[in-house]
Amino acid sequence: MTRIGLLVAVALMFAAPVSRAADPADGVYTPAQAQQGRALYGANCAACHGAALQGGAGPALAGDHFRATWGTRTLASLVAFEHSQMPPGKPGSVPEPDDLAITAFILQMNDAPAGTRALAAGSPLLGRRVTDALGEQASAPTAAATPAPRNRS
Ligand code: HEC
Repeated sequence: MTRIGLLVAVALMFAAPVSRAADPADGVYTPAQAQQGRALYGANCAACHGAALQGGAGPALAGDHFRATWGTRTLASLVAFEHSQMPPGKPGSVPEPDDLAITAFILQMNDAPAGTRALAAGSPLLGRRVTDALGEQASAPTAAATPAPRNRS
């Protein structure tokens, strides 16, 4: 009986992180991964999306447009879009680990907090909504803890 209770408690402990609201201090990528993504983005994406993600031949990948377009979708769907649609004409040419690093860079450029875990294939972190990765929580009034956006246009 006590042992079963303990097992249930342990099971809940492991289940909890998947569904709990994102902690802003609990980033979904590492600074090193974003740094790697910066170079990959420069080589594969910047020509159309701009060196500062401001947009060009393709839409902006930072700022209000990005939040409005991708905010309610999951990180997994963002990575999947990049991998299956980008770059136009040769989708899938960027290996998935590189797409994950590029995504880390895009998140960083959107002021998402970094953490201690890299964004990896199969990670439960990919189930998070983009807004949660950016540190914005729809259900919690934590605006005071959110740094001011760097680039409003
Ligand atoms: C040859 C130009 C070009 C290159 C290179 C390119 N893109 Fe795009 N990208 C576009 C265009 C055009 C669109 C809009 C059309 C669409 O959504 O299918 C787009 C759309 C996107 C979107 C969706 C934006 C939105 O607002 O919905 C993302 C995310 C994206 N690209 C990521 C990338 C990444 C990551 C790379 C590098 C691996 C990349 N793109 C390389 C032209 C490009």
